Order: sequence, then C-alpha cells, then structure tokens
Amino acid sequence: MRKKFVAGNWKMFTTSATARQLAAAVVRGLGDEQGVAVAICPPFPYLSIVAETLQGSRVVLGAQNCYHEQEGAFTGEVSPAMLVDVGCRYVILGHSERRHKLGETDAFINRKVHAALAAGLDVILCLGETLEERQAHRTEAVLEAQLMGSLAGLEAAALRRMVLAYEPVWAIGTGQNATPQQAQQAHAFIRGHIRQHFGAEAASALLIQYGGSVKPDNAASLFHQADVDGGLIGGASLNADHFLAIVRAALA
Ligand code: 13P
Repeated sequence: MRKKFVAGNWKMFTTSATARQLAAAVVRGLGDEQGVAVAICPPFPYLSIVAETLQGSRVVLGAQNCYHEQEGAFTGEVSPAMLVDVGCRYVILGHSERRHKLGETDAFINRKVHAALAAGLDVILCLGETLEERQAHRTEAVLEAQLMGSLAGLEAAALRRMVLAYEPVWAIGTGQNATPQQAQQAHAFIRGHIRQHFGAEAASALLIQYGGSVKPDNAASLFHQADVDGGLIGGASLNADHFLAIVRAALA
C-alpha cells in the first residue's frame, strides 16, 4: 500500500513574512499525522526561513528547480548541493511552467534529474500534455516522450527516489481539473510505462501525484483513484486551511 504524498508548490508567491506564517500554519495543522507525507516548496529566497519553521515537524522541504552542476560559474543558477545544504529533501523538476515558459527540454530536465539524485535530493518530476495535444489524442504519446527523455539513463533503483507528478497543462491554474477518470487513465499509462521499462517492483512502489486545480472539494475524488497517490498543489497551497483540507482528503 503506497502512502499518499501531498506537496505544495508555492511558485513565485509569498514574502519572507507570509512564507514563515504559511509554513507554521501547515506545521500546526498537520501535527503528528503520519498517514500522509507532506512537503512544501517555497521560492529559493525563503527556503532557509521555511526550513527553520519546519524543524522537528513532519513537513519536509522541497525546492522548485535546480541546475545540473554542483557548483561553478553559472550566474543566477542554484545547485542541487546548495538545496541539500539548506535542508531540502525534494526538488521539483520539469514543471510545465519551466517547459513552456522557459523552454526547458526533456534532455535538459534529464541532466538535472541525474544531478539532483547524485546530490542526494529526491525528485518530483512533472509531466503532462497541453490542451492541443489532448485534443489531438496525443496525450499518451506526449507522456511517453517525456518519460523516455527525462528518465533516460536511470536505473530502476533511482526510481525509488523519484515521485512523478501528472500535471495536464490545461488544468494548471485554470480551475478546470482533470476528471478523476482522466487522471486515473493517465496515471495508469505512466505506471504501465514504468513497469515496462523499470520493472514491476519499481512501478508498484512509485508515487504518482496529480496536479492541476486540486481544491478541497475535488481532492478526495481524485485521490480515491487507484493510481493517484496524492497531489502537487499550486494555488490552493497558498492558503493553509485549503492545503490542510487537501492533505486530509488524502487520508480518507
Ligand atoms: P494549480 O493547483 O494552481 O492548478 O497548480 C498546479 C501546479 O502547477 C502544481 O505544480
């Protein structure tokens, strides 16, 4: 039985003060609950502040991106080793906003996945199709290409330190979530791909989060699907009550 995992992706929101408050409210609300794993992923400048707030709690820290070198002359980039140093356990890679707004390719994401794992971070790898791709019945072909490209060169053992997040681009920030059936179908396809390429054990242990307009009122029906192992939450993770309600939906 896979334990569900809910992570908050704060994107480019919060200030140092609101980041601290939000993290503290999540810590308080979660208490000693052990039935679900919870992570929050603040912007880079607030990682250390939030790390302090999370100390001694069950909430773990993640970052939203990293570079694929551990150090060097790469102005403006942040290395996986630095993220480990400030207390991160996870890094989100391949988010659709980085793929589509910043031009990240599967090959580039793949280099970061290798570097992050080598530095000791666990990876939340995002994938998902655009509306045009879905309408052209290309969802599975797109997921297949993203999986092949971004997981290239990894062994089955590496999958134990990865979480996949299915985030259909048309559902992100739009209020139009995938239906539970659409999510289940994509998740089952992803798990099938992992089974085929990395074996049955890796596939059955793998956590696959759903992301895209998850809210307190739709979380439970999404999380009840057989292959949906929690969620990657954007907008709703900026409100502690909403985020905690989503976390509780993963327990039901
Ligand atoms: P929303 O929950 O705001 O749709 O964002 C989802 C997301 O992109 C999480 O990474």
